[in-house]
Amino acid sequence: MDRIVVRGAGPLRGEAAVSGSKNSALALMAAALLGDGETILENVPWLRDVDAMLELLRALGAGAEWQGERSHGVRIDARNVHGREAPYDLVRKMRASFLVLGPLVGRFGEARVSEPGGCAIGVRPVDQHLKGLEALGAKIRLDHGYVEARGARLRGARMAFDVSTVNGTQNVMMAACLAEGETVLENAAREPEVVELAEVLLKMGADVRGAGTDRLVIRGVRSMRGVRHAVSGDRIEAGTLLAAALATRGDVRVRGVDPSVMESTLEKLRDCGAELETDPTSVRLRLDGPIRPTRIVTAPFPGFPTDMQAQLMAALTLAEGASVVEERVFENRFMHVPELQRMGADIALAGRSATVHGVRRLMGAPVMATDLRASAGLIVAALAAEGDTVVNRVYHIDRGYERIEEKLRGLGAEIRREG
Ligand code: EPZ
Repeated sequence: MDRIVVRGAGPLRGEAAVSGSKNSALALMAAALLGDGETILENVPWLRDVDAMLELLRALGAGAEWQGERSHGVRIDARNVHGREAPYDLVRKMRASFLVLGPLVGRFGEARVSEPGGCAIGVRPVDQHLKGLEALGAKIRLDHGYVEARGARLRGARMAFDVSTVNGTQNVMMAACLAEGETVLENAAREPEVVELAEVLLKMGADVRGAGTDRLVIRGVRSMRGVRHAVSGDRIEAGTLLAAALATRGDVRVRGVDPSVMESTLEKLRDCGAELETDPTSVRLRLDGPIRPTRIVTAPFPGFPTDMQAQLMAALTLAEGASVVEERVFENRFMHVPELQRMGADIALAGRSATVHGVRRLMGAPVMATDLRASAGLIVAALAAEGDTVVNRVYHIDRGYERIEEKLRGLGAEIRREG
């Protein structure tokens, strides 16, 4: 099984290009099912999760493939979709597969999608996705681990989400596009990935308004078409590279990302003492002095993203003083803590809150990646540690970071993959 070996080698310096956003790309690929035509997505990251979504779309009868070798383009032809089922094996591999539920029931009036179940970071129920579809008139049945949704043509409705949910908002929004009449979704998620999906749905012929606020208004249309769209830069990959620059007290510019979608992350990096320069497509971070401690509370957008918690915590283990990190989005997203402790970090956990006392140095150690962002946190720590760190189970990293070793090597890191 692959492992990544990192040798702490001082400050990262230089420039790195950010890939397209994984979480946007996955939602947009599901949305392509709504169009009676061909959708071309550009700037799609080369990731295992994208391959898993392509496989699922093909299983449903869509044409779905990379446009050519070493291209970041994906072509999805949804004209001849005949399948209605997302099987357990595909959904188990990747939770975002559940995003085909809304488009399938919206366009074809029926779908059978495996329930995703819990995962390493929490229970992750899908009750809000189902509540929304039911509000639109779908009949939902839970059958042997599958969600079956039926509704010849959905009808617009008003509903309010009980919790802010990104994929839940996306799923219900997609289902509502082809419903009859107007749908109003209150307490909708405001994440940039919801906004980008709304933009693409508009281009496909849907009528979606209010994206970026917590109230979406969707007027149903009778049909939608395929579209061409370039996926935005990944705000979490950008944040991860900047966290690595912070932890190693380096000087790094990340290109290909819009800083306005990562304000809360940038604010925390500044709190930690970093100097930032931004322009519309890049961010440069420099740190000369010590890392200053801070307080982080994860929250839905525009709050601090849970997907950046592990990486920033890794940097804070080397801060001058005590920081507090509260995880409010997922109930079990501190799996990196025991691994960081094995590297010499001083972290006290109490429920959803971690107190991180900065130490003078971290030591390389063998560690285990448990989920995508936890693995990224371990790599950040390893880059700033003394000696070698071996990160095992790196398939988690490959789900969400394209060529991470190459990008970090370009910044001066000593990092290699071993088979
Ligand atoms: C998306 O997951 C992302 N995944 C996650 O990224 C990200 O961590 C998360 O949003 C939060 O920003 C994709 O976009 C593919 P949620 P999602 O529904 O939509 C609860 C990564 O590392 N909830 O916004 O599944 C839920 O349990 C991943 O790239 C319900 O109670 O997350 C959680 O506590 C991991 N009922 C909270 O809401 C529901 O029906 C927010 O989850 C749905 C969610």
